[in-house]
Formats: sequence, structure tokens, C-alpha cells
Amino acid sequence: MQFPVALSLLSTLASANAAETVLGAYIFHRHGDRTPKSLAPTNLTTLGYEQVYTSGQYYRSRYLTGSTKIKGINEDQVRLSQLSVTAPVDNVLQNSAQGFLQGLYPPVQTVQTLANGSKVTAPMDGYQLIPINTIQTGAGSEDSGWLQDASTCGNAKISSNAYFTSNEYTNLLNTTSNFYTSLIPVVNATISPKDTTYKNAYIIYDLINVAEIHNTSIPSSNLLTNTSLLTLRTLADAHEWNLAYNATDTIRAISGMQLAGEILTYLNTTIESGRKSASANKLAIQFGAYASFFSFFGLVHLPKANPRFMGVPDYASSMALELFTTVDTSSGFPERNEDLRIRFLFRNGTDMDSGALVAYPLFGGDSDAVSWDEFTDGLGKFAVTDSEQWCTKCGNTTGTCAQFVDAGNSGVTGGQQSGGDKGGISPAVGGVIGAFVTLAVVLGTLAAVMLLGGFRIVKKGSLGRQGVAEGGVKA
Ligand SMILES: *[C@@H]1O[C@H](CO)[C@@H](O)[C@H](O)[C@H]1NC(C)=O
Ligand SMILES: *[C@@H]1O[C@H](CO)[C@@H](O)[C@H](O)[C@H]1NC(C)=O
Ligand SMILES: *[C@@H]1O[C@H](CO)[C@@H](O)[C@H](O)[C@H]1NC(C)=O
Ligand SMILES: *[C@@H]1O[C@H](CO)[C@@H](O)[C@H](O)[C@H]1NC(C)=O
Ligand SMILES: *[C@@H]1O[C@H](CO)[C@@H](O)[C@H](O)[C@H]1NC(C)=O
Ligand SMILES: *[C@@H]1O[C@H](CO)[C@@H](O)[C@H](O)[C@H]1NC(C)=O
Ligand SMILES: *[C@@H]1O[C@H](CO)[C@@H](O)[C@H](O)[C@H]1NC(C)=O
Ligand SMILES: *[C@@H]1O[C@H](CO)[C@@H](O)[C@H](O)[C@H]1NC(C)=O
Ligand SMILES: *[C@@H]1O[C@H](CO)[C@@H](O)[C@H](O)[C@H]1NC(C)=O
Ligand SMILES: *[C@@H]1O[C@H](CO)[C@@H](O)[C@H](O)[C@H]1NC(C)=O
Repeated sequence: MQFPVALSLLSTLASANAAETVLGAYIFHRHGDRTPKSLAPTNLTTLGYEQVYTSGQYYRSRYLTGSTKIKGINEDQVRLSQLSVTAPVDNVLQNSAQGFLQGLYPPVQTVQTLANGSKVTAPMDGYQLIPINTIQTGAGSEDSGWLQDASTCGNAKISSNAYFTSNEYTNLLNTTSNFYTSLIPVVNATISPKDTTYKNAYIIYDLINVAEIHNTSIPSSNLLTNTSLLTLRTLADAHEWNLAYNATDTIRAISGMQLAGEILTYLNTTIESGRKSASANKLAIQFGAYASFFSFFGLVHLPKANPRFMGVPDYASSMALELFTTVDTSSGFPERNEDLRIRFLFRNGTDMDSGALVAYPLFGGDSDAVSWDEFTDGLGKFAVTDSEQWCTKCGNTTGTCAQFVDAGNSGVTGGQQSGGDKGGISPAVGGVIGAFVTLAVVLGTLAAVMLLGGFRIVKKGSLGRQGVAEGGVKA
């Protein structure tokens, strides 16, 4: 286990080393403070806006202006080709990205002179316009109570559902039932008593956590001692971690695999365009849900570096993959891959106590940085970089995936959607349907609960038919 403080010191020392040049970075960011999921639609709050804005300023000081500035990046006036900003179609995440960008590139007053000699001043003190592109992964994630709602990956849903029949789950459900029952008076205005169990650990924690931040009076708040609050959070952590990652059933972490693919693809273009002396692709910023952090953390073995990675990152947390070199760059971008290095950094919230970005070793190793080739090998083991890989891993064979069915997918046979087929529902699916019903009751949108699907997968040699529940709990 590594100690963050020591590492933090080390990385400060490392960055004080003048010979180091940062060449590019990929930031993955959580949204700021928001309203509770159980009262969807969720909104970014003023506090949340302030958090992401502050984070934008922080990254501005790190990557645009400071001694660890990315070589060649525009400092004040944005050059769009150098940036890539993405967020799923989700109000909280899109707005968080926008708030972040306001801190990253503050307004620069510009005055333009037209052909006829008249001058035009940009509105809003020169507020800079930066497009935020949408990505498929994680759409609607902040309004969804169950994290795989944001994924359309069939096998990942089956895998996450399997948690609800595991011994780990059943034991916790049993041993925590008195604890949750004791908290019913706190949440019963929103969550029914029969749903106040470990099954809804995150939804319950989320509701109370939001109330602790925003509500001046919480019903039966005397029940919320520091100990019970910590227990609530720890149980929510365990619940969400297990739905997002399982060491032996890795497809559960599909969102982390996709993120890995996006990181590899982007940093590859950073290197390739840098070598062509093009001033492009220097900084990528993606906003996404904590579930993607979890999946990624599990896949790159970060809990080995620090078990705290199994706790849900605070609002406005971010991780950065930083591409740097220690060779002289005065004559251009390093040509040899062995001169390129990558380090992983994490910042838990924007809390100045927890401070700056801290470096942690990837892949269960003990070094703060790995070479580019080690990095691509490590991530390449699970990264999903194209639709065919995604379709094969997810067992999806219809829609956009139909084109890959005959391409020799070993793990997938046939498989089709048969809408409304409830015959094949496994007990595991029942667990999640239960979670959906909780939310639907909460939201009063029972109609939103739908059952689709049922498709074939081949698992460990035997052809089994399984159903999968799908519900768009959105409002
Ligand atoms: C979020 O904002 C919408 C209006 O934009 C409002 O209807 C909704 O109640 C808000 N949600 C919460 C939980 O405050
Ligand atoms: C100059 O051109 C702009 C844009 O066409 C127009 O709005 C403005 O009135 C013109 N000014 C003069 C002095 O003609
Ligand atoms: C994958 O399969 C699931 C389950 O059948 C379906 O709901 C989802 O829309 C599919 N995704 C794509 C991209 O085809
Ligand atoms: C992880 O997956 C394995 C194999 O599918 C299963 O036996 C185990 O119970 C799972 N653990 C959790 C916590 O879901
Ligand atoms: C927990 O499990 C034990 C033993 O299986 C059982 O006796 C007990 O009733 C269970 N408790 C609850 C709250 O389900
Ligand atoms: C919630 O529980 C409290 C205490 O048991 C009770 O007085 C109250 O009526 C309940 N509220 C609802 C909405 O069920
Ligand atoms: C917090 O306040 C909101 C709005 O006043 C209310 O709807 C919600 O039930 C409260 N939550 C808790 C846990 O007290
Ligand atoms: C509970 O935690 C808060 C914030 O960390 C602290 O200010 C307070 O003193 C703690 N209360 C008790 C009873 O320990
Ligand atoms: C970038 O990707 C291309 C295509 O996969 C590959 O040929 C090239 O070697 C990669 N560049 C680096 C620096 O890894
Ligand atoms: C981040 O903070 C949260 C809450 O304070 C904690 O549960 C989690 O373990 C922390 N993560 C890391 C990597 O320090």
C-alpha cells in the first residue's frame, strides 16, 4: 500500500525537476454537487457549479499556465483543435463540463474590426465558446438509480445483476437489515419502508447525503450520527463497487473498458500529431459518472495502490493521465516511444485539504509512471476501441451490432431481441427489477419500467438462455 502523502511529495519533487515536459493529458471528471437521484430530474446545484468551476481553474494552473504546462498549448485564448471535451447526454454532466470550461479558459475580451471600419466587441466580456461533444456511454446516468442503466451492453447488465445473487450481497442484505430499518423515519417521505434495505444502498445514501448538504431540517436527524453516516457511505461504496467491477467477471466493467479505449485513442493522436508538429490534440476532458471511475480503477488495479479507490469519489473528483517526457524537447516532440511516459493522478473532490492531484501506480506496480509501451500494453488488455469489440464483448447482435455477427464472433451466437419476453427472467434480474420498482414508485412513473430483451449467450461452453431486465428510469 502506498501512502498518498509520500507520493504527493514525490510527485511534487518530480515536477520540480525542470527536465520534465508535459506533452498532453486526458482528464476524466465527475460532476459537481447535484440534487438526489431519487428526486429526478437531477440538477447541478450552485455549489456544484462552483466546484467544477474551481476545478477548471485548478487545471488551468496545472496544464495551461504553470511549470507543468502542456507544451505548446494556448494559454489564454482557446484553440479548439488542441482540446477535446466530451460528456454524455445528461444535464448534470453537460452543465458540469460547461462550468469547468469557464474556469479553464476564462473570458478574453476580443474586439474585431470589420471591413467598413466599425468595431465589434464580443458579448459577455469575451466569454469563450467551447463545444462539448456528446458520447454514447453514460447517457442519462445521473437520473438513473441503477448504474448499468447508462449502458446498453447486454452482458454487462447480466454480470451486474449477478451481484444480487452473490453470497457477498445476500450476507450484507441480511446483516444490515436492522441498520436500514432504524433509518426508515429519515427517508420514508421518499423511499418506502420495504425498500429501505441494502438493495437500495446507494439511493438511500444519496438521498441522505444530499439532505445533509442542503436541508436545514431532516426528519429524525438525531438518527444520523457520524457513525451511521459513515456506515451508510461504506455500504453504498460496497454496493456500487460490486456492481461496477468484479475481478473474475470483467465485462461488468465495460464503461471502464470504453474509457480505456478512449484514453488510448486520444493520447495516440496527441503523440502522432505532435510528431507531425501539428498543434492539435493536447488536452482531453471527459465528464462521466462515478461508475466509470470504479470500473476503470478496478481494471488498472488501483485498489492495490490504495483501498480507498473502492470508495465512491467525491463530487467533482477527477483523474488525469499525463503524458510526459524527460528528454530535451527544444528540437521537437520525442520521436522514440521509450522517451514517452505516463502517470496516473487522482484528485478527490475539490477539497483543498485533500489538496492537489496525487500520483498512484498503475497495474499493481510500484512506480509512479510507466513507459508509453507498458501503458498501451496494460490498457490494451481490456480497452474497447471499436464497435466490433464492443458488440462481441457485450454479446449484442442486433442494430449496429448486426454487421459483426458473421465476422466469426466466437462468444456470440444468434441472439435477438424478443420484446416483452418475460419467460426467461432469472432471479438476479428480479433483484434489479425490484430496484427499478423502488424508483418508479418514488418517481410515480411506473410506465417507465419496461422489460425488453432476452437473448442468447454462450458461457463456458454451455449454451444458456438468460433474460435481461432493462428499464429506463428517467423522468
Ligand atoms: C430540477 O430542475 C427542474 C426544473 O428545471 C425542476 O422541475 C426539478 O424539480 C429540479 N429537481 C430537483 C430535485 O430539485
Ligand atoms: C458596418 O458593417 C456592419 C455589419 O455589416 C453593420 O452592422 C454596421 O452598421 C456597418 N457600419 C457602418 C458605419 O456602416
Ligand atoms: C444491446 O443489447 C441490449 C439488450 O438486448 C439492447 O437493449 C441494447 O439496445 C443493445 N445495444 C446496442 C447498441 O445495440
Ligand atoms: C464475482 O464473480 C464471480 C464469478 O462470476 C462470482 O462467483 C462472485 O460472487 C462475484 N462477486 C461479486 C461480489 O459479485
Ligand atoms: C439472517 O440469516 C440468519 C441465518 O441464515 C437468519 O436466521 C436470520 O433470520 C436472517 N436475518 C434476517 C434479518 O433476514
Ligand atoms: C415516516 O415515519 C414516521 C415515524 O415512524 C411517521 O411518523 C411518518 O408518518 C412516516 N411518514 C410517511 C410519509 O410514511
Ligand atoms: C430535503 O428537502 C427536500 C425539499 O425540501 C425534501 O423534498 C426532501 O424530502 C428532504 N430530504 C430529506 C432526507 O430530508
Ligand atoms: C461529526 O463530524 C463532524 C464533521 O466531521 C464534526 O464536526 C463533529 O464534531 C462530529 N460529531 C461527533 C459527535 O463526533
Ligand atoms: C498510434 O496508433 C496507430 C494505429 O493503431 C499505430 O500504428 C501507432 O504505432 C500508434 N502510435 C503510438 C505512438 O503508439
Ligand atoms: C475519496 O473520498 C471519499 C469520501 O471522502 C472516500 O470514500 C474515497 O475512498 C476517497 N478515494 C480515494 C482514492 O482517496
